[in-house]
Amino acid sequence: MAGQPIRIAQLSDLHFGRHLPSVADALLDSLRELGPTMIAVCGDLTQRAREGEFRAARAFLDGLPSPALVVPGNHDLPGWRIWSRFTRPWRRWRRHIGTDPHAAVTCTADGVLAVGINTARKWGLHPDWSRGRVNARQLAGILAEFDRAGPADLRVVIAHHPFLLTPAGLRRGLVGRSALALRRLHRRADLLLGGHIHLAYSDVVDGMVVAQSGTAISDRLKGEPNSYNVIEVIGDDLTVETRHFDGTTFTAMIRHHYRRRDRHDWQVGDPGGPATPA
Ligand SMILES: [Fe+2]
Ligand SMILES: [Fe+2]
Repeated sequence: MAGQPIRIAQLSDLHFGRHLPSVADALLDSLRELGPTMIAVCGDLTQRAREGEFRAARAFLDGLPSPALVVPGNHDLPGWRIWSRFTRPWRRWRRHIGTDPHAAVTCTADGVLAVGINTARKWGLHPDWSRGRVNARQLAGILAEFDRAGPADLRVVIAHHPFLLTPAGLRRGLVGRSALALRRLHRRADLLLGGHIHLAYSDVVDGMVVAQSGTAISDRLKGEPNSYNVIEVIGDDLTVETRHFDGTTFTAMIRHHYRRRDRHDWQVGDPGGPATPA
């Protein structure tokens, strides 16, 4: 399957309020140099959903060099401000980010159709309200958008909470109703992008490539440096490259390869390994 190269920069867990300004500047420099087809911002833009944090997030988004699709994370809800959390949970998100958190958002670029959904919830029937959930209405919305995609378009789903965990992240939990989501998206989506765990990894689940990015610019590290992913698709080959912040700049460190078997059906390709520094 031929096609133009596609490059998606995947960022997550910016956590303005706990961000490192020098890392944020280095990230913007790296993205401007990369010039990606599109940028996926996978939630947790703020630490406590404060006004100043949203203003800083907005200024960062305004500096991005490519079309960006932005979804909320659990930290973009008022945390312990319970009254606000229940009566006007997304007021600041709407004001500063400008999208409807209850509707799917889309981004189209050359050869890509990406759909973003909000998996953060103001409460849940469990003690850990940081856990997210996807519902049947959201899945139907994704599929309706995909029906409008070109036959060769890469179909991307962007959400904050993960559809895949590694042993290091098992206590965090998958996004609620992940099994239903994977069944509905099977052979309909190519790539599922997320954050929340603050660890970068990727693999294939039910024929879809799942890629998670770490915390791009915050000090809330979980044993890995700040990072972001560059996902490159050329024909039937897809590479997830994780770039770590090395104290000065973002450098390619890990690369995993995936190969298309058929339309919207992927498998693990050549073994991944250390990347040649970019
Ligand atoms: Fe986070
Ligand atoms: Fe999160």
